[in-house]
Amino acid sequence: VAKDGTRVFDLDMRAGETEFRPGQKTPTWGFNGSYLGPTLRAERGEKVRVNVDNGLEEASTVHWHGMHLPARMDGGPHQMVEPGGSWSPQWKIDQPASTLWYHPHPHGKTEQHVQKGLAGMFILDDKKAAKLPLPDRYGVNDVPVMVQDVRFDGAKFDHGHGMMQNTGFLGDRTMVNGTLAPYHQVKDEAIRLRLLNASTARVYNFGFADDRDFALVGTDGGLLEKPAEMNRLKLSPGERAEVVVRMKPGERTVLRSYPYEAGDFWSNRFGGADDSFDVMELRADKQLRPAPELPDRLADRLEVPDGKGEIASERSFDLQTSGINGKPMKMDRIDATVTRGSTEIWNVRNIDGTQHNFHVHDVQFRILELNGRRPPEHLRGPKDTVFVPGGTTVKLALSFTGPADPDVPYMYHCHLLAHEDGGMMGQFVVV
Ligand code: C2O
Ligand code: CU
Ligand code: CU
Repeated sequence: VAKDGTRVFDLDMRAGETEFRPGQKTPTWGFNGSYLGPTLRAERGEKVRVNVDNGLEEASTVHWHGMHLPARMDGGPHQMVEPGGSWSPQWKIDQPASTLWYHPHPHGKTEQHVQKGLAGMFILDDKKAAKLPLPDRYGVNDVPVMVQDVRFDGAKFDHGHGMMQNTGFLGDRTMVNGTLAPYHQVKDEAIRLRLLNASTARVYNFGFADDRDFALVGTDGGLLEKPAEMNRLKLSPGERAEVVVRMKPGERTVLRSYPYEAGDFWSNRFGGADDSFDVMELRADKQLRPAPELPDRLADRLEVPDGKGEIASERSFDLQTSGINGKPMKMDRIDATVTRGSTEIWNVRNIDGTQHNFHVHDVQFRILELNGRRPPEHLRGPKDTVFVPGGTTVKLALSFTGPADPDVPYMYHCHLLAHEDGGMMGQFVVV
């Protein structure tokens, strides 16, 4: 913490080697280490500054996914950090407790830079959420779970794309927080998992091997109004979920990813939807610390628009692998200009049948409708990324609270990173 009260973080991007398997060193990139980055944590109301140093031989950026902040601090493709260069964005945390993350965003190279290992979590806290009886001991009963799929070719990563699909890279096994075949020793009757799909293209359909229920308490941008019990939860790349799982003494269970319906034969067969994985084992101690039941209510009011007030503009975004609204991304073209303080409705439609999702920088939105109906419980919280498989239309309400900056755009894009790199991205400014 600096003298003026600003919370300061240092992130060094570097190249190194990681031993994922005994005796096999894989060339990787990381923040402050050889693979992934430290969990950053700050509280609502705090000012933060991150000193980013690029120790790589390539230019890159660091984007704060899910963060509400000025466009020039966003770390998108317009905030490149040259090799040997540095960048020190600062902003004030002005949003609810949530599980956010950070990763590079260089136009055309995001998939590669994330695959090499540049990603980390950014957890936000607030006073209200801290009072809830949720598991909150970091690394003990409140555990980050960054899920990535990987494939090895000898000692090296194999990041080739499959021939038959245009989803992007799909691995043949998963890692959690950079660890293969992970387990967590559970010491409490209840454990919170902060699930982050940090994979570049793969969608996970999480559930437990014994089909036990878990409680979803938070989505991308913060807590739900009330916990939602379920036994399956789909997360597409970039999405997060906070879930609370209850365990009995001595029990073991495995968090898995199950096949799901992706829309059509091609997506199922070649888009990864037919695959299953063991993601992480939970092993409960013989004696567990008691944990209170979850409260009936988690938040009185979600800080996302309900779409009932004045709507400044309604826009359509048609998703196609070749581009959004028929146009591939261009760094010098602004696709939408929104007014500071206004609320808009965005209709996002998958028009090519290939799996996509849709992520918007700077804001958390509410999903008003999924295919014309009220969305299921797991899509009712604050969101910044939404899965839009073939045949899907979502209606979103977004409020742009500012600040305004006519010169620097924010991005919206498909978070299947090969699609984003290939041009499934557009730019908006807040004026
Ligand atoms: Cu997680 Cu524009 O990115
Ligand atoms: Cu983002
Ligand atoms: Cu896509």
